[in-house]
Amino acid sequence: MANLPEKILQELSTKQSLNTLDLAQVFNEDHQKIIGALKSIQANGELVNAEVISKTSLELTSEGTEIAETGSHEAKIFNSIPDAGIKQAELMKLPNAKVGFSKAMSSGWIQVDKSGGPPLVKKKVDSIDDVVKTHLTAIKSGQLSNIPDAKLQEYKKRKLTQQVVVKSFDLTKGPEFSLTLNKLETDLTSEMLLSGSWKSLKFKDYNLNAKGSQLDCGYLHPLLKVRSEFRQIFLEMGFAEMPTNNFIENSFWNFDALFQPQQHPARDAHDTFFISNPRTSSKFPEEYLEKVKNVHSKGGYGSLGYGYDWKIEEAEKNLLRTHTTAVSARMLYALAQEKEFKPSKFFSIDRVFRNETLDATHLAEFHQVEGVIADYNLTLGDLIGVFTEFFKKLGITELEFKPAFNPYTEPSMEIFCFHPGLNKWIEIGNSGIFRPEMLLPMGLPEDVKVIAWGLSLERPTMIKYGYNNIRDLVGPKVDLQMIQSSPVCRLDK
Ligand code: PHE
Repeated sequence: MANLPEKILQELSTKQSLNTLDLAQVFNEDHQKIIGALKSIQANGELVNAEVISKTSLELTSEGTEIAETGSHEAKIFNSIPDAGIKQAELMKLPNAKVGFSKAMSSGWIQVDKSGGPPLVKKKVDSIDDVVKTHLTAIKSGQLSNIPDAKLQEYKKRKLTQQVVVKSFDLTKGPEFSLTLNKLETDLTSEMLLSGSWKSLKFKDYNLNAKGSQLDCGYLHPLLKVRSEFRQIFLEMGFAEMPTNNFIENSFWNFDALFQPQQHPARDAHDTFFISNPRTSSKFPEEYLEKVKNVHSKGGYGSLGYGYDWKIEEAEKNLLRTHTTAVSARMLYALAQEKEFKPSKFFSIDRVFRNETLDATHLAEFHQVEGVIADYNLTLGDLIGVFTEFFKKLGITELEFKPAFNPYTEPSMEIFCFHPGLNKWIEIGNSGIFRPEMLLPMGLPEDVKVIAWGLSLERPTMIKYGYNNIRDLVGPKVDLQMIQSSPVCRLDK
């Protein structure tokens, strides 16, 4: 009600004094609204005097309100007894039967017949007067005068009523009483200063108790929320995070170190983004590079190699890393350089880039989640065991595996999971045991095996947040409101 302050002034002009609670009744408004309107009046000057009044009043609790509407527990018990009586056990199944039964007994409304078989409850009188309901209804409308004190005490004890303190104001006309409010100025403008009109204008006081508007703050993108859940799982399982802060990598670490031959189609510009400036890298661990060259061209470690002419020029080419397995290769090489081999578990979650045809489920960049374990004599059983546990923590329990091929793992397996929403098996990851042709040139002991798996962060995020088009999640078409309103990520761990 926009003109509530003026209506209050109007009302007050005809009376000596007024209480805000009465005003709420007269205008059929919430008391808080009346108080708000009073504040507006007071902001205009001393139009009214307001004296605060604290009054205690008796109100019904929610149980009391229910009784006022539908009857007391004891009346309900009485009313549900048929003339022939009812088995006590049956009667006690009703809601609030315990209180109702004992009150109805002490009021002499009912009796228990134990003469034959299970106890039978019967009515003792023909009709009852539900005094509790009558009293509570009266209390609800503020009429207490006909209720004996003892009863009032009893209702309080039964928690059907409660005392509440209500603050209100008694209003009388103030020295500046008027029927209208001046619109108060809220801003001091340069015009007011130039014309001098500020001298006669009334300004609104600062409300230093105002709540203030809500501050804008940052929101996490769903991908980041899912990423932190993944990270948490890896950390729980004892994995250490790999440093992935280099989007630009050279072909040597991205491909050659992984025993990926130089003529492999993935190394084509159709699949990989090569960097034009700086086009090449020049620093490589020489001894290791020599071993990589040999294993590709001549073989070794029990392998025939690929038997082609390995060229340093190809290995030097810079690119946007196509997988974080390049980082794993660097980590494993560093691990092999330690004096003594230490079993290790690593993970990373970061961006990779591929020259893909863009569609609803593919972009030219995505986040790869990668787990790597290096230890003595690991087997395919360990690989399956570890990522079964990993996926279980993501709430994915139905897994299936399909033999696959990666140049750097043997055996290799694609990982499929059953997606109940889509009602079909979908591919979620790729995995395998790193080949000796990759690990032995690094200098890792021969009986050390390395198992690894990788998946995209986008796919589980799309499943979790229900996106069918990756462009709604990543890229220029993303709706910022989506980021602000998407819920926290909860995995069924
Ligand atoms: N690098 C693989 C990919 O890009 C994933 C992978 C990681 C596979 C580790 C096997 C072992 O899909």
